[in-house]
Parts: sequence; C-alpha cells; structure tokens
Amino acid sequence: MSETQFTPRVFSGIQPSGGLHLGNYLGAIKRFVDMQDQGDFQTVYCMVDLHAITAKLLDPATLRHNTRELAAGFIAAGVNPEKSILINQSQVPEHAQLAWIFNCVARMGWMGRMTQWKDKAGKNAEAASLGLFAYPALMAADILIYHATHVPVGEDQKQHLELTRDIAAKFNHDYGVDFFPLTEPVIEGAATRVMSLRDGSKKMSKSDPSDASRINMTDDADTIAKKIRKAKTDPDALPSEVEGLKDRPEARNLVNIYAGLNEQTVAQVLADVGGQQFGTFKPALAELAVAKLAPISTRMSELMADQAEIDRTLAKGAQQAREITAPILKKTYEIVGMVS
Ligand code: AMP
Ligand code: TRP
Repeated sequence: MSETQFTPRVFSGIQPSGGLHLGNYLGAIKRFVDMQDQGDFQTVYCMVDLHAITAKLLDPATLRHNTRELAAGFIAAGVNPEKSILINQSQVPEHAQLAWIFNCVARMGWMGRMTQWKDKAGKNAEAASLGLFAYPALMAADILIYHATHVPVGEDQKQHLELTRDIAAKFNHDYGVDFFPLTEPVIEGAATRVMSLRDGSKKMSKSDPSDASRINMTDDADTIAKKIRKAKTDPDALPSEVEGLKDRPEARNLVNIYAGLNEQTVAQVLADVGGQQFGTFKPALAELAVAKLAPISTRMSELMADQAEIDRTLAKGAQQAREITAPILKKTYEIVGMVS
C-alpha cells in the first residue's frame, strides 16, 4: 500500500466520438458535477480526443466538432470551468508522453485480456490499430499524470481502472518508488449501467444502430417523451421492493433511470411508485427526463453558437493542467533515467 499522501484529485474523461447519451450523463457527467460541487477534490475533466481515433480515424472536421460539442455538453450539464479544469487531451502533451513510458511498463498479456479490446477488435485483431491495443495504457497515463486519486466512471470502465492500478504498482515496484497513487474507481449511484430502451440486456450505447434505444443529450422534449413512451417493458405493475425487479431488466432500467435523474435510491423510488402500471409510470418518467435534460440540450446549442469561447476555455484549461502535469512528467523521466 502507498505511504504517500496524495492530494485528493478527481480525473475522468469521455471520448469525443459524437452522440452523448443518457448513459454518459447518469453514469459519468452528472457524477463529475457532483464531485466538483462536493468541494472535497480538485477536479479535472477531459475530452479524450487521442482515444477517439483508436477505433477508426475520424474525419478531421467531425472530430473537431465532436470535441467542442462534448465540451459544451460538460459545461451545459454543470461542469464549471471556474471550479474544474476542463481540457482536451491532445492539448496537454504530457498525457501522450507518459503513455509511452506506460507502454513499456504494461505487458502484452494484460492488454490482451481487456474485454473492451476483445469487443472492439472483434475477430479481426490483425486489422485493429496499435492504438486500440494500447488504449488502456494511455488511459492510465491520463489519470496518473495528475496523480489522480479518484476516477468516476460507469461500470464498463472497471477493468481499465484495475489495469491502471496494476501499471502504477508495477512502475512503483520496478523503480523502488512510491510515486504513483493506486487510484480508486468511483462507480456509484443508481445508474452506473444504463441499459438500452429497446433491450434490457444491452448497454445504452452510441453505437447501437437503433436511435430509439437511447436518449441523446441533443434530443428535444418531444423526442425524449416519445422514446420513453415506446421503451420496452413487461406487462406487470411495478413492485414496491427492490427484490421485485429481479429478472425484470427493462423495468429495473427505467426505475434506475428515474432514481438517477431524481437523485433518489431505487428503494425510495419504489416506495413511491410501487403498484403503478407502466401507463402511469412512463409519463412521470418522461416528464422528469424532459425537465432534467431539455435545459441541458438547450444550453448546449447556445454554447455551440460561440465556438471561439469554447476554444478559449480549453486553452485556459490546458494551461492550468500543465502546471500539474509538467512537474509529474519531469519527475517520472528522472525516475526512469532520462537525461534532462
Ligand atoms: P464513452 O462514451 O464510452 O466514452 O463513455 C464515457 C463515460 O460514460 C464512461 O465513464 C462510461 O463508463 C460512461 N457510460 C457509457 N455508457 C454508459 C451506460 N450505458 N451507462 C452508464 N455509464 C455509461
Ligand atoms: N475509456 C473511457 C471510456 O471509453 C474514456 C477515458 C479515457 C477515461 N481516459 C480516461 C475515463 C481516464 C476515465 C479516466 O469511457
């Protein structure tokens, strides 16, 4: 275990691969805002544009648009650039520089066991990019270049965070130092895994071909309400106890979403809505979702109207970030034996 006391610092990132959805909001962004406002941590939030080109190279104009739109999404949802450091990954070069060191610390076997690698590379791993394979080492560098102690993410990122701890531990062990913290994943709340509205066994995802499967952060009020009305459910009434959601993935998902949006536990929601039919519950959920999400979408469009302002915010964020990352990279190079 680490003896060093590290500054309580939060880091998290999202890929600007286009199409923020309710899963990103409840699983990640909303919790970024909560941790920012809690005041116990310094918070750093990032558009990971270097990660966004690992699966496939994107059209440059699209990548630029997506990065600015994600920045607008963060700010519209409550990430405050006066309170948090908001950055675009490629503008803080120490991320990629530390990632190289970690490419030499991490083992091929560790990377090959990552389920995201296996899912994304599919059967044709020979054709996948080297960047996709090395993705988790860059992610570890994103976190550890800040000596971040806590990382809020959705459930699907758990394995990558375990790998981040393994990389930190191996670096510390191999060089006989206590330099990198063993970061804590923060996977909490009712909605760490929001499921598709069309299939309760599949994660809500931007890559699902069915637009009805997800609520996009840019959907307007009517679209949000329509998607919730059409969401797949079962014929039974809602239970009053959490155990009653067992084996009812679609019902559980809608209740989790309600709880996440309304900042309640699932048990609290069920105490109120137990016994209701979906014909009653769905309109209430739609109303709640519209009340919480429509203002974010409106604010996002307003922010996107002034892209120069977004760029200024990111430039300022990069400057603040480098005050933290430059000394940590310098010290890492010293430990490794790079002549400076
Ligand atoms: P991605 O869009 O894959 O870059 O994910 C960005 C963040 O959103 C990560 O913290 C993910 O864990 C989280 N996330 C993505 N999809 C979901 C989902 N369906 N439910 C909860 N969290 C999610
Ligand atoms: N891999 C994360 C995802 O797909 C994105 C990410 C990159 C990230 N670097 C990070 C998340 C560092 C948390 C911390 O969602």
